[in-house]
Amino acid sequence: MELPWSVVLLALLSVSASSAVATLAVTAPTPAPAHAPALPTAPGPARPRPIPDGGEGMLINGNFETAPRKVNKTLIVGRHSLPGWVLVGHVEYVSAGPQPGGMFFAVPHGVHALRLGSHASASQNVSVRPGAFYALTFAATRTCAQDEALRIAVSPSLSAPADVAVRTLYSADTADTWAWGFRASSPVAQVTFSNPGLQEDAACGPLLDAVAIKELPTPYPSKDNLIKNDGFEIGPQVFKNSTVGVLLPPKQKDTTSPLPGWIIESLKAVRYIDAAHFSVPAGQYAVELVAGRESAIAQVIRTVPNRAYNLSFVVGDAKNGCHGSMLVQAFAGNVTQKVPFESTGKGGFKPTSLRFVAAGIRTRVTFYSSFYHTKATDGVSLCGPVLDQVKIVPLKL
Ligand SMILES: *[C@@H]1O[C@H](CO)[C@@H](O)[C@H](O)[C@H]1NC(C)=O
Ligand SMILES: *[C@@H]1O[C@H](CO)[C@@H](O)[C@H](O)[C@H]1NC(C)=O
Ligand SMILES: *[C@@H]1O[C@H](CO)[C@@H](O)[C@H](O)[C@H]1NC(C)=O
Ligand SMILES: *[C@@H]1O[C@H](CO)[C@@H](O)[C@H](O)[C@H]1NC(C)=O
Ligand SMILES: *[C@@H]1O[C@H](CO)[C@@H](O)[C@H](O)[C@H]1NC(C)=O
Repeated sequence: MELPWSVVLLALLSVSASSAVATLAVTAPTPAPAHAPALPTAPGPARPRPIPDGGEGMLINGNFETAPRKVNKTLIVGRHSLPGWVLVGHVEYVSAGPQPGGMFFAVPHGVHALRLGSHASASQNVSVRPGAFYALTFAATRTCAQDEALRIAVSPSLSAPADVAVRTLYSADTADTWAWGFRASSPVAQVTFSNPGLQEDAACGPLLDAVAIKELPTPYPSKDNLIKNDGFEIGPQVFKNSTVGVLLPPKQKDTTSPLPGWIIESLKAVRYIDAAHFSVPAGQYAVELVAGRESAIAQVIRTVPNRAYNLSFVVGDAKNGCHGSMLVQAFAGNVTQKVPFESTGKGGFKPTSLRFVAAGIRTRVTFYSSFYHTKATDGVSLCGPVLDQVKIVPLKL
């Protein structure tokens, strides 16, 4: 099924206008701890705690389950009131469920989340290794406007701030989880999430929850494969409880991408999926090309001009209710190959390969899905073909 993007978008707009109000579901609400420990709020570096989040790299009070010391209804009063965080502007402490005004907030991890109003922000200092690469994982969703963004800035760092458009395109009934990559430049990095928008209602803005950090090793090509991070095994933290995968936003360079070695091109995200919740052809992780031609991933490899190479990869489906005729387009050197895959939504996959001749000392390899797909269950959540086990080897002359 090939739908023009505008049609999909229209469908999404009409559904998501009401879904933000009514159809968001609360996942696994657990009662807040009765005796929340008083955590220090003094500005200063904080090591991500290995305990009690099961080694998931959660920042201090990263899921906001430790309540602020002072609130006025839902508005947090005081810059240092929320343990672990420094707040600026109109920040609300939100509980999952129905809200005044008829809205309904899905809080993905635990029962509490932050809502960042116009120009509001939440910051925390974390200890990092200068020069090392990191990915921040966080859950986010919009609460009022169609186009809410969450700005992520790490200061100091070697990466510019970025805005993630937190639309409800990717999963209709739950908050999405995102990842963003940066390179540290000093031992203490201030991580800041902010709402760059200015809404009519100052309280309006994205919901933020479950913030974690993970250091990413640098991948290298091997003797047997010129592709780095060929099976997508190096990537951001995926929460064990999360069933929605992790969205990797567009315009990520290969050097600081949350998926090391890979460039995320175009306008929309790709989804990082884990074997615990999706069908993954090999290893623990793979990527799902969820937004047709608007979400591509690419890698630039070193090549010898006029030499022939064999590019092989595996295409499949994530076993997430994504049915239909899929088509992955692969580009390498002067060759384009279309790889069809019939998905019954049951998690099959098939290998494919192509021969290309390098034109220069660098060759870009790109993959995207030719078609747009939505889940059969709701007709709006974006989904698509799965890509894994990308391999390039030189061919004998
Ligand atoms: C982080 O540390 C810097 C330098 O010590 C300090 O200026 C800043 O206020 C701290 N930020 C937070 C959020 O604690
Ligand atoms: C709570 O907020 C309301 C509305 O902004 C304000 O009028 C009121 O004075 C605040 N109460 C306290 C105790 O700060
Ligand atoms: C995962 O679920 C368990 C059991 O419901 C809960 O105790 C834990 O806090 C959850 N972890 C996260 C990160 O949400
Ligand atoms: C290319 O690689 C695939 C996977 O390793 C292999 O099955 C295929 O035979 C190779 N093609 C050539 C021309 O070597
Ligand atoms: C790619 O380039 C090689 C060498 O120049 C040539 O033999 C081959 O026909 C080209 N393939 C395509 C699809 O243009």
